[in-house]
Amino acid sequence: MDKLFWTFPSNNMADIQNYEKVKIDFHPKIPPLEKVKDKTKIDVRYCVISPFAFIHVHWDEKIFELVYEIEEPILNEQEKSFLEQLTTAIRDLINFEGVIERNEDVLLDYIDKRLKLLAVELGIDIPYESYKKIYYYLCRDFIGVNEIEPILRDYFVEDIECNGANSPVYLIHRIYRNLRTSVVFQSNERLESLVEKLAQRCGKHISYADPILDGTLPDGSRVNATYTADITSKGPTFTIRKFTATPWTPVELISFKTLSPEMMAYLWILVQYKMNILITGGTASGKTTLLNAVAFFIPPEARVVSIEDTRELNLPRENWLPSVARGSTGGKGENEISLFTLLRSSFRQSPDYVIVGEVRGKEASVLFQGMASGHSSISTMHSDSVDTLIKRLETPPIELSPTLLNVLDCVCIMTHAVVNKEETRKLREIVEIVNVDPNGIATINTPFTWNASEDKFYYKPGSKVFDKISKRYGISVDELENEFRKRAQLIYELYKRKVFKFEDVQELANRYYKKPDEVLKEFGIASQNI
Ligand SMILES: Nc1ncnc2c1ncn2[C@@H]1O[C@H](COP(=O)(O)OP(=O)(O)OP(=O)(O)O)[C@@H](O)[C@H]1O
Ligand SMILES: [Mg+2]
Repeated sequence: MDKLFWTFPSNNMADIQNYEKVKIDFHPKIPPLEKVKDKTKIDVRYCVISPFAFIHVHWDEKIFELVYEIEEPILNEQEKSFLEQLTTAIRDLINFEGVIERNEDVLLDYIDKRLKLLAVELGIDIPYESYKKIYYYLCRDFIGVNEIEPILRDYFVEDIECNGANSPVYLIHRIYRNLRTSVVFQSNERLESLVEKLAQRCGKHISYADPILDGTLPDGSRVNATYTADITSKGPTFTIRKFTATPWTPVELISFKTLSPEMMAYLWILVQYKMNILITGGTASGKTTLLNAVAFFIPPEARVVSIEDTRELNLPRENWLPSVARGSTGGKGENEISLFTLLRSSFRQSPDYVIVGEVRGKEASVLFQGMASGHSSISTMHSDSVDTLIKRLETPPIELSPTLLNVLDCVCIMTHAVVNKEETRKLREIVEIVNVDPNGIATINTPFTWNASEDKFYYKPGSKVFDKISKRYGISVDELENEFRKRAQLIYELYKRKVFKFEDVQELANRYYKKPDEVLKEFGIASQNI
């Protein structure tokens, strides 16, 4: 390494200090990608970090698979050596952990200045073309998470999965689904240091003593990682679930045909009248996404408390106290206890609505007792059907008494479904819990179902929850049904007029509570009963 310094004497160096700063854009425009039926025809390239990193998705004849290639500037041996020296020098110079929270533009500027100064100090003579590339890699690694940064910046990526060194990183793409990427970690050490960096970006710590990471990146993405080979057979691993910066609105979910406007209107009424809703389904079936969308309908003045293991929820409101269970290692018992403690203390804050990101264990009993004492709750839980859900709630470690289950008003079942060969998420059923007897046998009513063969949603009038609301609040069922129809029409109109935006939908939902007739009129809906 020392030798290199001598081979590039500093007397005739280019004037790096005067190099024009390269503009790096970490948020280039999202390209319109179209679904292509014949996978072998796919060949698209789009930019994720402008003008340096591109994604190339194409069919690979040799392996007979779609591949996801990251295209970045190629460094020659000399440039690689410069980059290595500068990386070490910058790392020694500043404590990046301290600066990492700072604004991206400030950091870009900072790195540019340091790079230029250090190049002079180290006596390395970098031509402008090389400077640009080196600057990119320094920014990528100090601001971002090294080789996976372009993937993290790709709007279309939903999940990233790395099952160990020497095997490719896989991802799920919004449009092209499962793809093998060109990223392969060549050694356990490299992967370990990436996992350390992920932990650091989540503000957490991972080590041999504490080898499981369960955290949230600054952009809201959820990270799970393991550090050592004795936990998973292949060594360090990680999975990242990416989240859109702003959650999908109810109207957007309608446009994806995840549920019908009627289902959304029904949930709106239930939320307004503080009914207890549990969203269930398999892994990544869209439970949290639906929960977040339903939360748009919480009346603006209501006090909301949310409790999560890792931060995923993003509620469009001011009157909201979010809390995240801390100090958990992702291991079994501890999480449950911290959620349990948080939930118990949250009820003391006298919330109108309690939102629990995911119910898994002991905390369920606190939640159900909270519901029984009049706090409304919306939460998610993993299971495939109402039967398995009820069984899970009644058996250890949760062990609720069957009669306590009666406080639950409605269960939404989310599912992955393939429609016309395309992967979608559907709200498969909305089930009302009419009664659970002391033996744990549930009587249910199913007002909404999705028919898979026709890809249609069906509604069966006669909601038992409407009866319950009617009795509790003294509003006639007719009136509720009218309100339900008006809201379904309103949601449909919003969808037709493409009112998708977070702020717009929120504003309308809030205004509807205060001036329903005005909102209905604005969208051409008769406000008298229909
Ligand atoms: N209605 C939808 N249409 C299309 N994609 C969706 C929909 N809902 C969620 N997704 C995508 O599916 C992924 C999983 O969503 P989400 O986290 O809501 O699922 P989940 O059931 O809560 O998952 P988990 O079991 O991990 O808690 C996300 O990447 C999200 O962007
Ligand atoms: Mg979830």
